[in-house]
Amino acid sequence: LAGVPGFPLPTIHTQQAYAPDDTFTAKWTRADALQIKAHSNPSVTPGQNSLPAQLIMPDIPADFPTINPDVWVWDTWTLIDKHANQFSYNGWEVIFCLTADKNAGYGFDDRHTHARIGFFYRRAGIPAARRPANGGWIYGGLLIPEGAQNQVFAGTTYTITAEWSGSLRLLDPHDNRVSLFYTDMAFNRDASGQDITPAQAVITQSLGQIHADFRHVWFTGFTTHTPLLRPDGVLYQNGAQNPYYNFRDPFTFEDPNHPGVNYMVFEGNTASQRGTPNCTEADLGYRPNDPHAETVQQVLDSGAYYQEAAIGLAVAEDAAMSKWKFLTPLISANCVNDQTERPQMYIKDGKYYIFTISHRTTYAAGVDGPDGVYGFVGKGIRSDFQPMNYGSGLVLGNPTDLNQAAGTDYDANPLQNPRAFQSYSHYVMPGGLVESFIDTVETRRGGTLSPTVKVAIRADASVVDLRYGNAGLGGYGDIPANRAAINVRAF
Ligand code: FRU
Repeated sequence: LAGVPGFPLPTIHTQQAYAPDDTFTAKWTRADALQIKAHSNPSVTPGQNSLPAQLIMPDIPADFPTINPDVWVWDTWTLIDKHANQFSYNGWEVIFCLTADKNAGYGFDDRHTHARIGFFYRRAGIPAARRPANGGWIYGGLLIPEGAQNQVFAGTTYTITAEWSGSLRLLDPHDNRVSLFYTDMAFNRDASGQDITPAQAVITQSLGQIHADFRHVWFTGFTTHTPLLRPDGVLYQNGAQNPYYNFRDPFTFEDPNHPGVNYMVFEGNTASQRGTPNCTEADLGYRPNDPHAETVQQVLDSGAYYQEAAIGLAVAEDAAMSKWKFLTPLISANCVNDQTERPQMYIKDGKYYIFTISHRTTYAAGVDGPDGVYGFVGKGIRSDFQPMNYGSGLVLGNPTDLNQAAGTDYDANPLQNPRAFQSYSHYVMPGGLVESFIDTVETRRGGTLSPTVKVAIRADASVVDLRYGNAGLGGYGDIPANRAAINVRAF
C-alpha cells in the first residue's frame, strides 16, 4: 500500500478474532484516523465538502418535512431480535426515538436533560414513494410511565432525570414480550445548569409488552427498572475519574459463533483519571521508521490524552438478561477521539462490523474527521478490528470542509459547509440502509428524521449508493421492517 504523500501509513490490523472474554483491545490509532485528513482535499473552495464523495451523505434539502409538530426527535432505534433483524408487529412498523416536548418552552439544544423515549408506528409494507413525505409515522406517546425511571436513583441526590439511548429487543417473534435496554440518566445541577456532582449514567433494563389492533399500537409495562451496569473505574471510566465521562447506549445481540450467549456493546471511555498523560506508542500506531510518525511526547504535549473513547463489551449472566458482567473494551480511541457513540454489532457475510457515530468536535488535537458513522471490521466480535475505508474508519460523513473550523450546530462557522451538522446518530439497518436525525441544515434546526440512505458494504470498504432513492436520498424516516412478527393470540 503506497499511502498518501506527506502522511503516515495506517496501522496494520490483522482482523484476527480473539475469544470474547480475552483482554485484547483493538486500537483505532492516530495513524488510522489521520487517513481521513490524508484523503481530504486541502484546496476546495471554503465551505464545500473536502472529503471523498463516496463516503459522504448527500445534501439534505433545507425544506425537509418534520415528523411531528409537538416533539423534537433525535436518536432512533427499531424493534429487533438478537440478530438485529427489525420486525413489524401484527402489520405495524414501530420505532423508538428520544423525544422532548417542543411546547415546554425549551429549544432543541436543551433536549438532553429532558429526553424521554417515545414511540411512533405506521402500517408495514408500503413503499416509501406511497407514504407521506415525512414518512407517515403516527406518534404513540412515551414508552415509560413518567417517573418510573427514577427508581434506579433512589437514595441518591439529583435534580432531573432523563432517558438516553439504547435498543429494544423483541424477545420472541411469536409473543409480545419486549426488553428495553437504555441509559437512565440523573443530573445534579444548580440553577445555572452546572453539575454539582457528575451525572449518573446507568445502563438499565425494563420489560414491557407490545400491543396492536387494527387502529393503533400501544405498550404496557416498563414499570420496573433494573440497573444493569455502572462504570467500574477499572475497565470503564467513571464520574469520579472524569466528570465528563461517557457511558451509555446499550445494544444487545447474539454472536452466531456463541449461540445462547447474550452480549452488549455500549459507549464508554478508557478507565483512567482525566488528564493523565497516558497514551502509548500503540495508541499512535505508526509503523517502524515511518517518516511522518509523531513521537509519544509530541502527542502528549498536544493534550490529546483528554480524548479516550472506548467501545465496551458486556456479557449476560442469566437468560433474562438482568445480570451483566463487563468484559475488556473491544476498541479504544485513546488520543484519537472522546466519543464512540451508539455502537452496534453488524454481522454480514461472516464478517463482524462495529458501526459507531462520532463528532468532529470530539477528536483529539492533531486528528480530524467529520460528524457521522465510523466502521471497523474483524473476524469475530472481539478482533484486531480494521478501520474501514483505506484504514481510516470513516464510513458515512456529513459534507464537511476539513480545512475550516467546525463551528457548532447552533452557531455555524460561516466558512464551514452549511451541512456539516446536517445529520447525526445514524443506525445501520439490514441491507445497509442508514437512518439518522436532522440536526442543522443551512441554519434550520431539525429534530426530525433524516432521509434514509444506503451504504454498500464489502469487506473493509463501503460506498454511498447513489442509485438508491433520489440520487442517494431515500424517504424521510423510511425505516422498513425486514421481518414480520405475527402474534396470533393477540387477535
Ligand atoms: C447521540 C447521543 C447518545 C445519547 C443521546 C443523548 O446523539 O449523544 O449517545 O444517548 O445522544 O441525547
